[in-house]
Amino acid sequence: VDPKREKLFALYSDATVLYHHILVNTDTGEAALAYATQRNLNTTLLDTFQIGFAPQQRDLLITFFKEKQTDFQLLRQSGLFIENDDGTLRDRFVGRLMFPIRDEQGRVIAFSGRILQVAENQPKYLNSPETDLFNKRDVLFNFDLAKSEIRKAKRVILFEGFMDVIAAFQAGVKNGVASMGTSLTNEQLYHLRRATDQLVVCYDGDAPGMKATNRVIELLKDDQRFNLSIVTLPEQLDPDEYVKKYGSEQFQNEVTNSLETAPAFRLHFLKQNRNLDNEQDKIAYINDALQELVLVPSAVERDVYLNQLSEELHVSYTALVQQLQQLLKKTT
Ligand code: GTP
Ligand code: MN
Ligand code: MN
Ligand code: MN
Ligand code: MN
Repeated sequence: VDPKREKLFALYSDATVLYHHILVNTDTGEAALAYATQRNLNTTLLDTFQIGFAPQQRDLLITFFKEKQTDFQLLRQSGLFIENDDGTLRDRFVGRLMFPIRDEQGRVIAFSGRILQVAENQPKYLNSPETDLFNKRDVLFNFDLAKSEIRKAKRVILFEGFMDVIAAFQAGVKNGVASMGTSLTNEQLYHLRRATDQLVVCYDGDAPGMKATNRVIELLKDDQRFNLSIVTLPEQLDPDEYVKKYGSEQFQNEVTNSLETAPAFRLHFLKQNRNLDNEQDKIAYINDALQELVLVPSAVERDVYLNQLSEELHVSYTALVQQLQQLLKKTT
C-alpha cells in the first residue's frame, strides 16, 4: 500500500461524510435538501449514493481539515481546494449538490457538484480535477454497485448523467453506469468487458444524446468485444425525466424491450428531419441508408434492413439490392 494514496482515500471519505451530514442533518443544507427531494432523491438514495451538499461558504472544508491538522501538501494534492494568490487554500466546491465518484472498490476518489440553480456563468456540473486517485478516462460512475447486477442481468446500461443512473436505480434498473461527462473511453470499455459483453446505450433522447450515441457506435465499429444495442427515449427525454413522467415499470420496459441494433438506430437517425413524402428527401434517405448498410458485415443482417426499407419506402427490393451491390464493389 502507498501511504499517500491511503491518506487521500481517508480525506475523501471524511469530506463525503461531512458533505452528506450537512445535506441531511443541518439548517445549512435545507435548501439543497429541498432541491434533492424535488428531484425525487429520497433518504435511501441520498444514503446509498452518499450524496451531500457543499454550502455557499469558501472555507468550510479547509477549516475542517485544518482543525484535524491534515498535512498541507496532502490538501493541495487532493483537488478539493483552490490555491489563493497568497498560497492559502479555499474550497473548490461551493453551493453544489455533491455526487461522490467511487472507484471499483467503492472508495470515493472524486466529486461532481451540481449547481442548485443553473446560471449562465457557471458550469452545471463541476468535477474534481484529476489526481493520483482520479483518472476520469478510467472511471465509470456507479460501476462498483452495478458490477454484480451487470453480471446477473448479463448486460450493462450506459447512461449520460449521474441523475440518470440514480433514477434508473430507483426504478429497479441497477445495472447502469455513466462515463464521466465525456465520451466513452477505451479504458472504460476495458473495465466493462470484464463484467459483460452486452452493452446497452441509453443516452438522452435529445440531439446531443443521439450525437453521443453515434460516437459510441463509431468507437465500437470494428470492436468484436461487445454486442451493442441502443435505447432511444421519446420526446427528447433523458432517463431521469422519463422515469418521472412515465414511471418505473414503463422505464424497465423501454430498456429491456425497446432495444435497437446499431444499424437500426443509424437508419432512424438518418431518417430524422426528412419528409419521406417528398421525393428528394426520400431518395437522399435511401442513398444515406444504403451507404450505412455497406458497413454492415453480415449479408443476412443487410438483407433484413433492405427488406424493411423496401416495405417502408415502397421501393423494389431488387433495386435496393442492385444499388447496394454497386456500393459494396466500390468499397472493396
Ligand atoms: P440534470 O440537469 O441534473 O438532470 O443533469 P443531466 O445529467 O440531465 O445533464 P445533461 O444531460 O445536461 O448532461 C449529461 C452529463 O454531462 C451530466 O450528468 C454531467 O456528467 C455532464 N455535464 C453536464 N453539464 C456539465 C458541465 O457543465 N460541466 C461538466 N464537466 N460536465 C457536465
Ligand atoms: Mn484501471
Ligand atoms: Mn443532455
Ligand atoms: Mn440529461
Ligand atoms: Mn437530467
